[in-house]
Amino acid sequence: MTVLQAPKPSLVDPFGRRVTYLRLSVTDRCNLRCVYCMAEDMTFLPRAQVLTLEEMEQIAAAFVALGVNKIRLTGGEPLVRNNVLHLATRLSALAGLDELVMTTNGVLLETHADALAAAGVSRLNISIDSLRPDRFASLTRFGELPQVLKGIDAARRAGFRAVKLNCVVMKGFNDDETGDLVQFAVDNGLDIAFIEEMPLGAVTSHDRVQTLVSNVQVRQQLAQRFRLLASDDSTGGPARYWRVEDTATRVGFISPHSNNFCGDCNRVRLTAEGRLLLCLGNDHAADLRQVVRSHPGDSRRLQAAIVEAIRIKPERHYFDPSEQRIVRFMNATGG
Ligand code: 5AD
Ligand code: SF4
Repeated sequence: MTVLQAPKPSLVDPFGRRVTYLRLSVTDRCNLRCVYCMAEDMTFLPRAQVLTLEEMEQIAAAFVALGVNKIRLTGGEPLVRNNVLHLATRLSALAGLDELVMTTNGVLLETHADALAAAGVSRLNISIDSLRPDRFASLTRFGELPQVLKGIDAARRAGFRAVKLNCVVMKGFNDDETGDLVQFAVDNGLDIAFIEEMPLGAVTSHDRVQTLVSNVQVRQQLAQRFRLLASDDSTGGPARYWRVEDTATRVGFISPHSNNFCGDCNRVRLTAEGRLLLCLGNDHAADLRQVVRSHPGDSRRLQAAIVEAIRIKPERHYFDPSEQRIVRFMNATGG
């Protein structure tokens, strides 16, 4: 006798892309103020507008029930949210979730790395844009580089499956450091990704048209110092990878400007206030907070709202650095 198995649920958008990856912003707050991410003087969400951890868990569980198999905890800075480790423990136990990962600025990693690994977070992305303390302080407005270096060290020892560095390259700020950053990654046995700055939110410290550096340039610059071998590796994200010959290090390029990656987009984002953003570069969204607050514990309703929302996922982003169409900042978007 053949037993008919129910088909695995899946979220497919109108362009045939399967959504399997949720980026969950657990807070819009941060203990740094990176110049490309925030204005100097930011107003953060009042607490009542931010989802509780229980609400986040309910929404995440609904996504997993619909076939999402990877969740990234982001912010703001996820480690400034109280009890985020408890949320991580709950999420990593969800049947059907293959990977729980986190993006962090590393400031609090020295004390939290072991607990994060124990809570089931399997991979970390750590932002680091400069290896010079004075520059690091001005790019982040007041960050202390030694603290982040200690955090990276703690992460290396905590036994994550992978630790990757993220670096936003800006002309005149840190574009002369890409080689040193790759060398640092090689010396520490880590991967590194270079990111083109995206025009999200009105920043005050620089003109994005002036500071934009194409990843094509970054790669050419690096090729003068390292032998880079093209690779098919993918970590399920938009990065294109190259291997540094004779090392364990891969160099990724996330190129929203020079290499549009929307064609195989598999992700959506949930903001800390429960807005489901269907695309980084568009404002299409659905209010899941309203659903979870009016019907607490009702996964069916959440799932129906998510299925409905996926139908408005835009085909692609159109970024123009001279034009700031998207008002929300990255910290409100969920890096
Ligand atoms: N453009 C590109 N990357 C950004 N990040 C934050 N704001 C921007 C932006 N405007 C990056 C951070 C971090 C990740 C979460 O997103 O450096 O690595
Ligand atoms: Fe904080 Fe990350 Fe934004 Fe920097 S990029 S201000 S670390 S949220």
